[in-house]
Amino acid sequence: MNIALITGSAGLIGSESVQFFSEKFDKIIGVDNNLREYFFGKEASTVWNNDRLKETYANYISRNADIRNVDSLAKIFAEFGTDIKLIVHTAAQPSHDWAAKEPFTDFSVNATGTLNMLEMTRQHCPEAVFIFTSTNKVYGDNPNFLPLIELEHRWEIDAKHKYFKDGIPETFSIDHTKHSLFGASKVAADVLVQEYGRYFGMKTGIFRGGCLTGPNHSGAKLHGFLSYLMKCAITGEHYTVFGYKGKQVRDNIHSWDLVNMFWHFFQDPKQGEVYNAGGGRHSNCSMAEAITLAQEITGKPMNYSYIETNRIGDHIWWISDLTKFKNHYPTWNWKYGIDDILTQIFEASTQREHTK
Ligand SMILES: NC(=O)c1ccc[n+]([C@@H]2O[C@H](COP(=O)([O-])OP(=O)(O)OC[C@H]3O[C@@H](n4cnc5c(N)ncnc54)[C@H](O)[C@@H]3O)[C@@H](O)[C@H]2O)c1
Repeated sequence: MNIALITGSAGLIGSESVQFFSEKFDKIIGVDNNLREYFFGKEASTVWNNDRLKETYANYISRNADIRNVDSLAKIFAEFGTDIKLIVHTAAQPSHDWAAKEPFTDFSVNATGTLNMLEMTRQHCPEAVFIFTSTNKVYGDNPNFLPLIELEHRWEIDAKHKYFKDGIPETFSIDHTKHSLFGASKVAADVLVQEYGRYFGMKTGIFRGGCLTGPNHSGAKLHGFLSYLMKCAITGEHYTVFGYKGKQVRDNIHSWDLVNMFWHFFQDPKQGEVYNAGGGRHSNCSMAEAITLAQEITGKPMNYSYIETNRIGDHIWWISDLTKFKNHYPTWNWKYGIDDILTQIFEASTQREHTK
């Protein structure tokens, strides 16, 4: 029996992984306790998505377990043992801003929870491929010290700089920088996953996400940039832009494209390898450009305002360089760009509003 175990299975990347892998594995075990609702409130609940998965995928088994609780994880791992061939670990506290409210909770979910998952894997199914969703926030605010130039609608790196063509690679320093507590707990997890690859020889892959997005995001003010922006564009709810004149640039990768990266890694795994995983030069936008696009798609003006103070640790310009991944897995490429992503989010959000 081939089983894929997915933590955070009702979240954006977890649910995309359930969909993607349900055809490729005999069983999918999902672990999610809807902690997202505790973090960000009712509007961010992922219960709707878990219900959808249970109705749609007959081989999906949902477990309401907490990754902080080793005993409940041990029961699941003992039950399925070496049948588990793939672990996609996405469960997390995913917000910068929220982490400072409850540092213990943030660290115990992001860092200790990841250690729990790694150790359960080592004890029960050490041959399994272990995929971890890290973040570009491990680089802290180092990108903000690159030579950036202000253009009419966005910040851009100097065209003469070595990162201009393809973006920022994995060799960029993660040290001597302000990470936010969230970034720090993710660094701890990121390094642990590398170590289980290098030290124990396990097949671990670390994917440092840019903005991960797609129609199944439960967008909230503190997390899920494009999804929340589109929600505001549709409902007329007020949206606040924080700092950098609204010209800060993020690269956005569709959840399907990211999970397709996992699939390529699974078929030819490495040990403790790190990859930047974002939209790169192919799919990126500034806040201002995203607002313009959202207005074009909905056909109405957005209700937004600007505050001078930026979010702590926010990147002014981030474009991921995916050259390393593409060299390791030459048949992978992006399927979706920024227009497809926003249109899909619009269609899915409109449908969800109608069925409420
Ligand atoms: N979305 C982004 O823009 C982004 C960017 C970079 C990295 N990441 C990383 O990618 C991963 C997935 O992000 P996402 O956007 O799918 O997040 P998400 O919040 O949509 O999904 C995470 C899921 O994990 C669950 N969860 C949280 N804590 C849990 C716990 N203790 N036990 C069990 N389940 C728990 C939540 O209920 C939620 O359903 C995270 O690790 C995040 O840090 C996300």
